[in-house]
Amino acid sequence: MTTDKIFKCNAKHLRAGTASVRQYFITSAHTDGKMLDAEYREMVRRDLPALLAMSQENMASIILASWGVELRDEEVLHAILRPDAYTEVLEVRGEIVGYYSVEMLNGKAFINAIQVKKGHQGKGYGTAMMERVENLARSRGIGLIDLWVQLTNRQAREFYRHRGYRTMSRQGNNYLMRKDLL
Ligand SMILES: CC(C)(COP(=O)(O)OP(=O)(O)OC[C@H]1O[C@@H](n2cnc3c(N)ncnc32)[C@H](O)[C@@H]1OP(=O)(O)O)[C@@H](O)C(=O)NCCC(=O)NCCS
Repeated sequence: MTTDKIFKCNAKHLRAGTASVRQYFITSAHTDGKMLDAEYREMVRRDLPALLAMSQENMASIILASWGVELRDEEVLHAILRPDAYTEVLEVRGEIVGYYSVEMLNGKAFINAIQVKKGHQGKGYGTAMMERVENLARSRGIGLIDLWVQLTNRQAREFYRHRGYRTMSRQGNNYLMRKDLL
């Protein structure tokens, strides 16, 4: 099966609202059309410990600085296990190097989470995942994509800004950022 067919298959499941059906299709990761040494697959439950560990390592200090509280695993699980969330992991030779979770509802996409493991950041994986989410959304005719980012998360804010996301509003110590896709 070609990458395109696999991609359409994932998108078809999303359209049909059956994205929670386990899919074992694997898709190569690209950024700006360049193939990376990484592959996507839909998250399965046994991935959760790795995703929680990655999120804690990346986000605990940011959440503490922004909100003065500990990041609880329950909050990460709440984001990625929502009934309408579609979550994929990015693997390099069997190691999970990143993941994203997106919801596409009512003509709008919302990125619940995007994380690249420390030690693998700055290699283009985050860009590849953003492009993938945006292409998925476009394939469903979705015209805009939103996300929250913490005030203190300067690196991520710059990352989104470079990819065309604009700051729309502020809620507490979070900014709402948005990109028009169409
Ligand atoms: C934000 C994040 C998802 C970006 O993913 P990434 O794989 O590091 O991103 P990329 O390699 O595609 O691009 C990173 C950008 O930072 C630059 N960069 C250079 N060295 C870098 C490094 N060591 N680490 C991170 N970024 C680096 C890249 O050149 C690139 O610049 P650009 O925006 O001008 O293109 C990732 O850094 C991350 O997981 N951060 C911690 C978790 C987080 O904050 N998530 C978002 C929550 S809202």
